[in-house]
Amino acid sequence: MAGLYLSDALHTLGGGAAPFVYASFVGSLDGRIAVSDTVTGASHLPVEITSENDFRLFLELQAQADCLVTHGGYLRDLAAGRLDDVLQIGTRTMDHDLARWRRENGLSAQPAVVIASASLDFPIPDSVIRQKQRVLVATGRQAPPGRVDALRARGFPVIVAGEGTSVEGAPLVRELGALGFRSVYLLTGPRMLSTMLRDGALSRLYLTITHRVVGGEDFHTMATGPRLGGAGRLRLSALHYDATAPDGTGQWFARFEPMRPA
Ligand SMILES: NC(=O)c1ccc[n+]([C@@H]2O[C@H](COP(=O)([O-])OP(=O)(O)OC[C@H]3O[C@@H](n4cnc5c(N)ncnc54)[C@H](OP(=O)(O)O)[C@@H]3O)[C@@H](O)[C@H]2O)c1
Repeated sequence: MAGLYLSDALHTLGGGAAPFVYASFVGSLDGRIAVSDTVTGASHLPVEITSENDFRLFLELQAQADCLVTHGGYLRDLAAGRLDDVLQIGTRTMDHDLARWRRENGLSAQPAVVIASASLDFPIPDSVIRQKQRVLVATGRQAPPGRVDALRARGFPVIVAGEGTSVEGAPLVRELGALGFRSVYLLTGPRMLSTMLRDGALSRLYLTITHRVVGGEDFHTMATGPRLGGAGRLRLSALHYDATAPDGTGQWFARFEPMRPA
């Protein structure tokens, strides 16, 4: 599967004031993207739906981004040691080639990191500082003003993208386009996917479906909030099938384009 998503050349698809905005998820046949731990209550990706191929393709999506959008919840989980750091590319043995790929394709060594947050209560990871990544924060107009000022005083630009406390898809993409970003990878979750779809601001969705029913009482699916109506219509533009992983079940690697309103 290596090279499959690199061949999509996502870094060439955005331009002008309109970056190419893409997201990815891995889920089960019963739609689970995360389940809650029965002891701690913390939610996490079910390990049985992950595979080496899926992780490699995730890294290929990252490699093509000049901007990664993450969020406050991820940075808190990262600081607490609950999740792995996926904010850099080319730092593991399995993705050294992707650092070279970025250089050869005119991308900076590491993508910029945009942190979406309503609370503005998160730590900036050491790895991002060490790698000298450009860091910006995105929030809504009603975000706590003291925290906005404190972030700006530390040298982190704060983008206001939304009239409430939350970040909204269309204003965020507009601001990122104005800053010159061309390929924006959403490393976020159900809330950001939902606002992007609702605002018609998503360019593409990559979805890996593992052939397994996970079950569980408490779980997340890809979207949250009010029903999406027509904004949730997607058209399949590519589908690959790996019949072996993980553990002999199989995975579909699907690529969808949101459909414009009729
Ligand atoms: N299987 C997969 O492919 C996949 C992909 C993504 C996530 N997941 C998992 O799914 C579960 C839920 O995902 P999640 O934690 O990302 O949940 P989420 O409810 O989408 O996002 C949670 C946090 O992100 C910030 N946030 C998200 N959207 C925002 C917006 N529009 N404006 C402002 N802030 C926003 C908020 O941070 P503040 O509290 O700082 O305001 C919020 O607490 C997690 O277990 C995650 O690991 C799985």
